Amino acid sequence: MYTIEQLREIIKAEFEKKEYVEVPYSLFEPIQYILEDGGKRLRPVLTLMAYNLYRDDIENALRSAVGIEIFHNYTLLHDDVMDDAELRRGRQTVHKKWNSNVAILSGDAAAITAYKYIESCEDQYLRQVIDGFNQVAMDVCKGQQYDMEFETRNDVTEEEYIHMIYLKTSVLIAGSLRHGALIAGAPEHEYKALYDFGGYLGLAFQLQDDYLDVYGDVAEFGKKIGGDITENKKTYLLIKAFEVADPETKAELQAWVDKKDFDVVEKIKAVTGIYDRLGIGELTLKTIENYLDKSRKALQKIAVAEERKSGFYEMIDFLENRKK
Ligand code: IPE
Ligand code: IPE
Ligand code: MG
Ligand code: MG
Ligand code: MG
Repeated sequence: MYTIEQLREIIKAEFEKKEYVEVPYSLFEPIQYILEDGGKRLRPVLTLMAYNLYRDDIENALRSAVGIEIFHNYTLLHDDVMDDAELRRGRQTVHKKWNSNVAILSGDAAAITAYKYIESCEDQYLRQVIDGFNQVAMDVCKGQQYDMEFETRNDVTEEEYIHMIYLKTSVLIAGSLRHGALIAGAPEHEYKALYDFGGYLGLAFQLQDDYLDVYGDVAEFGKKIGGDITENKKTYLLIKAFEVADPETKAELQAWVDKKDFDVVEKIKAVTGIYDRLGIGELTLKTIENYLDKSRKALQKIAVAEERKSGFYEMIDFLENRKK
């Protein structure tokens, strides 16, 4: 069995070949730019780990795992336009370095490239692979749509929030796992169980992303701290703050959300101060723990020898402590 580190190295080496680059270079350069920054490469690692539960010839799954990472990066290219984000993995976002048209079109090209790579599997799995991935891709769009709509709503419930992050983030993580198991020939109940595991892992992952957006360190996180506060994103932190605040604090928070003209630094400081006062950080960490526990329990349902699953437990621990 391969270790997480070995799989990361294999994926890195595959990306360094830059086989996805075509002409005109101007269309693919932004894709290369975002891909060469790396990131955690969580999703292709999960695909290969899931594959490796059943088969050892992981080079057979490598190309489609790379495709999943390209797909993830396509969503980031568009997401950064939608979120007006300046920084990604410690570097300028594509739409800031070039412009939004570039991010949109290179994003489209990345999505198409992703599909070309993902479908690299044995013929017998092709139909299910495409159907599965279409479902994932559409769910991400749906989640992103809710995410945008929630920006201008003030009555988003925790349940709606969880549904939104499940769609925008969990399904791709879950789908990465399902994909690996599927193309390894795992039985249906097994790849579905891996999908369920990924669902919980993804919820914890996005909650943590929301947490780090406020309490992370820009040098490690690689994204601008407070971006969600600036954009009035209905994160778990904001929803909980409204839920637990006294009327006075609630009014103060509402005033910041409603303000059209504000100093960005001042707003981030004020809202973070409210979160601190209400203990929202600790509350969020507890909820993350809760979903990580659920993911551990979901993992137990997968009928593979426990020692073969140890990498997944290790991955949960890694994500639990992530700062980036
Ligand atoms: C960022 O994903 C988008 C979210 C779903 C929160 P990652 O945190 O996996 O980003 P990279 O690829 O490691 O940079
Ligand atoms: C990302 O959510 C979800 C997708 C890219 C589909 P965020 O908007 O929170 O991700 P970051 O923080 O920009 O990476
Ligand atoms: Mg974003
Ligand atoms: Mg977003
Ligand atoms: Mg975020």
